[in-house]
Amino acid sequence: MATQTPRILSGIQPSGKLHIGNYLGALKNFVELQNSGKYECFFMIADYHSITEDYDPKTKSAQVLELVADFLAVGLDPDKSTIFLQSLIPEHTELAWIFSTVTPVAELTRMTQYKDKASRQTKNINAGLFTYPILQAVDILIYKPELVPVGHDQLQHLELANDIVRRFNKKFGQTFKEIKPLLTQSPRVMSLGDPQKKMSKSDPSGCLFLSDEPGEIKKKIQKAVASSQGLEGVGLPAGNQDAILSKIEEAYQNNPALQGGLNLFLLLVIFDYEAALKIIKNKKYRYSEIKEVLAEALSNHLEYFRMKKKELIQNPNILKETLVGGSAHARKFASATLTEVKQKIGLTL
Ligand code: TYM
Repeated sequence: MATQTPRILSGIQPSGKLHIGNYLGALKNFVELQNSGKYECFFMIADYHSITEDYDPKTKSAQVLELVADFLAVGLDPDKSTIFLQSLIPEHTELAWIFSTVTPVAELTRMTQYKDKASRQTKNINAGLFTYPILQAVDILIYKPELVPVGHDQLQHLELANDIVRRFNKKFGQTFKEIKPLLTQSPRVMSLGDPQKKMSKSDPSGCLFLSDEPGEIKKKIQKAVASSQGLEGVGLPAGNQDAILSKIEEAYQNNPALQGGLNLFLLLVIFDYEAALKIIKNKKYRYSEIKEVLAEALSNHLEYFRMKKKELIQNPNILKETLVGGSAHARKFASATLTEVKQKIGLTL
């Protein structure tokens, strides 16, 4: 019997430049999943989500196009993946209303991202910020995917989506299947300035942006907070990249004081594995050396991206066409699911 190609879906908010957390937690994985040929891929630009934060309407459409350029510059290909814009598909907001009727308020109040954002933008704690995870559940479930590639910070939102699946199916009959998160080996990249916190657009001073020029990369890495101790005691294995990264992830939990050093070393393992392996074998973790090698490796790794993005930004029409074409394709799936849902919940004539 022919089995269906598993579908994956993920989204990113258009709210400024992407940082290497977005890249290592999500975007790099999107490209690998796309190129593996094993999945039917949907990647969305979450513009409705992005307007729940303070923003300038004059810059939003440029931010959307910039994110399309980011997608294409890292290697997403509209011939292989459906790249689309949330606000071009009205079925998302329609289904969000329906899902809001099966989502307990208590679940929403538990969301750490809501609490975090509400504590940062105290003058704009809008209802959209509160119901944000409902719309995210729609973004996912309306396409009925199996897997959702995201960074660690999105796990709670995916749990809520599965909670909605269970409640909806129980009330209206089997309609949605639970989804599984797909994490990378680096699902939590920490801030360069405050390694106890994740790297986040809300604190640009701790971010390394994908479009940073080599001089900036060098300056930022040199200033990055390392740790007062070396990593000798962590027992990193002189094994393959995955083995080292999972040991780093484990050490993150057990040694909060080492997070700065671990974060830098994690980047080194990804961007210059050979150099990292040499350091592990020699058991000499000198942060000055780690930083120097890392800055060089990162600048080289991102060179093609920087060049390609500059080129793509010059052609806004191609970027717009990508979104319009991808959204028309995505809308067919969204519309079929909404029709099914309306029948299930009794909203048909
Ligand atoms: P957003 O735009 O904040 O982030 C996009 C992706 O980047 C990951 N990420 C990180 N990964 C590792 N380390 C970090 N420091 C780091 N910072 C960000 C995020 O986990 C995410 O995968 N709510 C979502 C957008 C969204 C969405 C969706 C995602 C809307 N609808 C449907 C998946 C499915 C968000 O704000 O991501």
